[in-house]
Amino acid sequence: MGGLSQRMSQKIIAMAADHGGYELKSILKETLEAKGLSVLDLGTHGPQSVDYPDYADAMAEAIRGGRADKGVLLCGTGIGISIAANRHPELRAALVHDAFGARLARQHNDANVIVFGGRTIGSEVAKDCLELFLSTAFEGGRHAGRVAKIK
Ligand code: RB5
Repeated sequence: MGGLSQRMSQKIIAMAADHGGYELKSILKETLEAKGLSVLDLGTHGPQSVDYPDYADAMAEAIRGGRADKGVLLCGTGIGISIAANRHPELRAALVHDAFGARLARQHNDANVIVFGGRTIGSEVAKDCLELFLSTAFEGGRHAGRVAKIK
């Protein structure tokens, strides 16, 4: 993540996960902090079973309140927490499995939250995806109208 910390140094990244994403959240959090990025960790803070919608709600509250600029959500598959996250109008949460999806989620969808399945993606692939997600801008143009229609 060479220039990523410079480009993102003013930004706060919120992270939240259920027990299925807890381990990968810890790995990604360490990676971001090692690059000098600020992380707002909304939990969960241990492997005990919890309910993923509560963590999507916490993410929405953080973004709505301006406590974070972008977010990372995780559950076992990434599916449940994506469904819950996208019920919130302030979140555009993209479940991502590869670098192409991570880049397009920003360029075309202006996603502000990236979602991973802690049990479905390897940590090195997730790190690559996260770097791309955080360093890629929304293209606007024809995509702006489409994103606006979602609202
Ligand atoms: C929890 O066991 C699991 O259902 C959850 O992490 C997630 O995969 C739901 O979509």
